[in-house]
Amino acid sequence: MVLLMGSFGTGKTTLGLQFLMEGLNEGEHCIFISLEEDKDSVVKNAASFGWDLKKPITKKELGLFKLEPSDAKTTINRIKSELPKFVKSFGAKRVVIDSVSLLNMMFSDESERRSNLFNLCQLLRTTGATSILTAEVKDENPRSSRDGLAEYTADGVLLLQSDENRDSGEVQLTVRVLKMRRTTHSRRVKPYSITDDGIVVHAGAEIF
Ligand SMILES: Nc1ncnc2c1ncn2[C@@H]1O[C@H](COP(=O)(O)OP(=O)(O)OP(=O)(O)O)[C@@H](O)[C@H]1O
Ligand SMILES: [Mg+2]
Repeated sequence: MVLLMGSFGTGKTTLGLQFLMEGLNEGEHCIFISLEEDKDSVVKNAASFGWDLKKPITKKELGLFKLEPSDAKTTINRIKSELPKFVKSFGAKRVVIDSVSLLNMMFSDESERRSNLFNLCQLLRTTGATSILTAEVKDENPRSSRDGLAEYTADGVLLLQSDENRDSGEVQLTVRVLKMRRTTHSRRVKPYSITDDGIVVHAGAEIF
C-alpha cells in the first residue's frame, strides 16, 4: 500500500492511472475508485495520454467507480462491506483510490477518521492487491498529507512536489521516496515531467 502525496496538479491522478495501465498491459485486473473526478473525466484524462480505458472497462478488466463524497455514510459502509469481496471477485491485482483526503473529509471526528483509515488499509492488505492511495498535502507543510494520517499506515510514501527555482522562476516537478518499508531506497530528489505519454522520472538527472 503506497501513498502518493502531492499538491494539486502534480500528477497524482495521472500516476495512479499509469500504474493501472501497466498492470492492464500485463493482463492484470485493476480497480480505480475516484472520489474526485467523474468517470467520464477519468476516461478523458487517460485518453489524453493515449490510454484507452473504455476497452478494459467493457472487458471487465478494469473497474472504474465514482463514489460520491456527499453520500458519506453509504459510501463508507459500502467500501467496508463490499470492497474486499469485490477486489477478490474482480481478481484485481492493482487498486487505486483517488483520493483518500476526500474520503477522510467524510468524517468530522479525528478518531473516527483515524480508525476508518486504518480499517481501509487493513482491508486493502487482506485483498493481496497492490494499492495506491493518493492524498493532498497540507498547505503549510507540503511534506505531510492533509490529515497527517495515511503516511503512517502506508507501506510506502512518494511525494510529488512542484518547486519554483528562485533565480529562474522556472517550476520543476520533483519526486522523492519518503518511506518504503522493507527496502533500502534512494532518498534523492528526482525531477520528473508530465508528458503526452504520462509521467517520466528523470532518474539520472539532478535537480536544478
Ligand atoms: N496529456 C497531457 N500531457 C501533458 N501534461 C498533461 C496532460 N494532461 C495533464 N497534464 C498535466 O498534468 C497536470 C494534472 O495532473 P493530475 O490531474 O494527474 O494531477 P493531480 O495531482 O491529480 O491534481 P489534483 O490534485 O488537482 O487532482 C495538469 O495540470 C497538466 O499540467
Ligand atoms: Mg487528481
